[in-house]
Amino acid sequence: MIDISTSYMGLQLKSPIVVASSSLTGTVEGVSKCAEAGAGAVVLKSLFEEQITAETAALSEHADDYSGYGEAYDYLQGYGMELGPQQYLDLVSQSKKAVDIPIIASMNCDSGGRWAEYATKLENAGADAIELNVSIMPTSAKEEGLSIVDSYLRILHEVKQKVKIPVAMKVGPYFTSFANFVDRLTHDRAEAPAYSVGWLGKNKDVGKITWKSADGLVLFNRFYKLDIDVDNLKLIHGQPYSSPTEISYSLRWLSLLAGKAGCDLAGNTGIHDGRDAVKALLAGAKVVQICSTLFLNGLEQIGVMEQQLRDWMAEHNYENLCDFRGLLSQSKSDTPEDHERLQYIKLFVGME
Ligand SMILES: Cc1cc2nc3c(=O)[nH]c(=O)nc-3n(C[C@H](O)[C@H](O)[C@H](O)COP(=O)(O)O)c2cc1C
Repeated sequence: MIDISTSYMGLQLKSPIVVASSSLTGTVEGVSKCAEAGAGAVVLKSLFEEQITAETAALSEHADDYSGYGEAYDYLQGYGMELGPQQYLDLVSQSKKAVDIPIIASMNCDSGGRWAEYATKLENAGADAIELNVSIMPTSAKEEGLSIVDSYLRILHEVKQKVKIPVAMKVGPYFTSFANFVDRLTHDRAEAPAYSVGWLGKNKDVGKITWKSADGLVLFNRFYKLDIDVDNLKLIHGQPYSSPTEISYSLRWLSLLAGKAGCDLAGNTGIHDGRDAVKALLAGAKVVQICSTLFLNGLEQIGVMEQQLRDWMAEHNYENLCDFRGLLSQSKSDTPEDHERLQYIKLFVGME
């Protein structure tokens, strides 16, 4: 009997197929449709930090100022849901009542601060977990890399201090030393903050603080794509949906981090069918999050993917996901260097 149930951040899911944060999960109706289609869990459309720290109406008047900020811009343009903080809490509590799968609330944030208190409200509204969609644009020539890493750690720390429910970090792939970043993000540790002492008290020697680790890590967010219209000489939206070829970078890091990160891993970006889901699970993911394939193929793709996963498991005589999860991760490999290969040189000699 094939069983595709799994745990993720301590939550019990009947399926590893999770609907990623997007407008598909921005209404109770959307959440209900995802549950009916067989999703193991849903991540609600993100509530943006700007929604918490400023008046939504005032921000909307200045939407063009945010044209470089992808999803925030989408939100302000009405592309995503237009929910203020109280409505978002209603979305959480009503979704909880409407479906019997875990509801993961999502906050998009790029700084710490008072908005983090909102995490408590999400917990009280019934969210089973919180996903922090953190993306800091490193455009300041004055800010060093470690300072930016500190900001990610600080955001997680502040939210973890406020809630008991699990907290996942959803990040992009652009870090100088990703393994080190993940190590710090996913293991509890007592350490003095390297850069961000300002947020604890200017020039104050705060000594060591106990940083709380993430319960889940989503690899990777796919950011708003910028393009250029050469006819009209202006910036335009790039392709909003991923293609299956984009799975490669997630597979690389899932397989490198499985068994080493101190938390559950979720695969994301470029997972379009059941075989893609199998790849992410073999690399070491506990769950996969999907978005583009649902916009392109409809919510019934969830059931299609689950059947493809079951068929593959039957073909390979696996009954449970844990029978093969992480089988192709670096920690289980006899040739770990294969996971680190970056250059084509030997592979393609003579093929050019
Ligand atoms: C229309 C649209 C809206 C999205 N909105 C959000 C969002 O509010 N919060 C978030 O964390 N990710 C958002 N995303 C990113 C997706 O959750 C997902 O990480 C990304 O699309 C990569 O997965 P995929 O390859 O399955 O599409 C959005 C993506 C799309 C296409």
